[in-house]
Amino acid sequence: MFTDINITKDSPAYLQIKDYIKEMILNGMLQRGVKLPSTREMSRLMKVSRNTIMTAYGFLEDEGFLYSSKNRGVFVSDININHLNGFNIDWTNKITRLMREAESLDIVKHEIRNSKGMISFQSIAPDEKLFDVDDFKRAFLNRMNIEGNKILSYGYAKGYRPLIEYLIKYMRNKGVNTEGKDILITNGFTEGFDLILSGITEAGDRVICENPTHNTAIKIMKLHGLEIIGVNMEDDGINTQELTEKLQNNNVKLVYLIPSYHNPTGVVMSPEKRLKVFNILNKYEVPVIEDGFNEELRYSGSHVAPIAALCENGNSVMYIGSFSKILFPGLRIGWILADSSLIYSMESLKRSRNIHTSVLDQAVLYQYLLEGNFEKYMRRARKLYKEKYELILAKARENIPCKKIWGEGGLHILIELDGIDSRELLEECIKHGVIFTPGDIFYVNNNGANTLRLGFSRLDNEGIEKGIKIIGEVISNWR
Ligand SMILES: Cc1ncc(COP(=O)(O)O)c(C=O)c1O
Repeated sequence: MFTDINITKDSPAYLQIKDYIKEMILNGMLQRGVKLPSTREMSRLMKVSRNTIMTAYGFLEDEGFLYSSKNRGVFVSDININHLNGFNIDWTNKITRLMREAESLDIVKHEIRNSKGMISFQSIAPDEKLFDVDDFKRAFLNRMNIEGNKILSYGYAKGYRPLIEYLIKYMRNKGVNTEGKDILITNGFTEGFDLILSGITEAGDRVICENPTHNTAIKIMKLHGLEIIGVNMEDDGINTQELTEKLQNNNVKLVYLIPSYHNPTGVVMSPEKRLKVFNILNKYEVPVIEDGFNEELRYSGSHVAPIAALCENGNSVMYIGSFSKILFPGLRIGWILADSSLIYSMESLKRSRNIHTSVLDQAVLYQYLLEGNFEKYMRRARKLYKEKYELILAKARENIPCKKIWGEGGLHILIELDGIDSRELLEECIKHGVIFTPGDIFYVNNNGANTLRLGFSRLDNEGIEKGIKIIGEVISNWR
């Protein structure tokens, strides 16, 4: 006894010893009243210093597992541990429609995942090699020095005030009139979208979106029981004639749009079309959720203002921003800019669900932004992604026989194949070590069987060239 402990270098030895003894007490190996070896004896058995044993015993006493009796030694406390036979529930019959559907729509579980050594075009997450970890570390230490105690405590549901103020200014710099508007900090776009749908839609409501669109947004709309109406995409954005017809013929609650570097097509809606879309929505008085997730990744050409900038003092646009693609996805920080009274209500919804987004994360991000790191990072990111985009486009044009290549930048392109099912193509490409996302997951009406999305952000040039060549060869040898 006590000699089989395997003390590693991962955590202090006294903690490992404390947990080891605690487990023995909890599983009945050390019964109440049993006397433990003296600290001297235990240190010999476990081959650690006596001090280490004294510290471990001390913590176990604090937690009520041991007690010491003067001149007699240390004993296991009289703790009540009942090991009863529990009963088993068949949880598969107990779960709700929501959870069942979330599970069935979970592509992480149901789509093929890449394995080590494969060339993967699946991800559109940022290239981790770009992360300026040292700048972030500095921001962390600087903010901790300024107000460490405060940012480790509870914060406000609406968000960390300095970050909100920064983002209000940031949105003004995009040409958005923020008068009468406010910001709610969220756990990325995903929570923002879910909060808005929870706040203003009921199951059965009709929602229009681009078709194809962001697969996570489709999943969330389905989980809310919404009726999803897709409108086809054109080279410069959503088809406005179809949008008008669908608005005319349906009682539509809201519209969801991704005007910049649309996922999955990579299309940037032209300024003219943004105006047209905005006027159509005005005419039918339908609010819009504008997803600005990739807006900053503009490589060339002049700045295109978000739709939120068109509504001036109107309040029909709910803009969702996110730092997931333009900075660090692990932070899970995004924001909703919308009408003040709507944000006021949504703040309560957010509080009821998760109190607030981590203050520590928000505060460190704020410090990082404040110190000018974001601008420097974005300059490097744009340059790198532009190179990768130009490479993948050139290589795809050269190697992949297809109907059309969609995409104007961002972190991905979409390929429309000519008479080939992309899932069948995927099966074949996997055999050659290449994986991508079949496009059908982005469609709301089971279309897109002949499309595939190629995310290039995390691949190096060699991977892009090799992967595209393989896809091209597989297609060229098709049947
Ligand atoms: C269209 C779109 N919006 C937003 C996001 C970012 O979501 P989040 O901020 O929850 O990570 C993504 C990520 O892929 C996306 O494709």
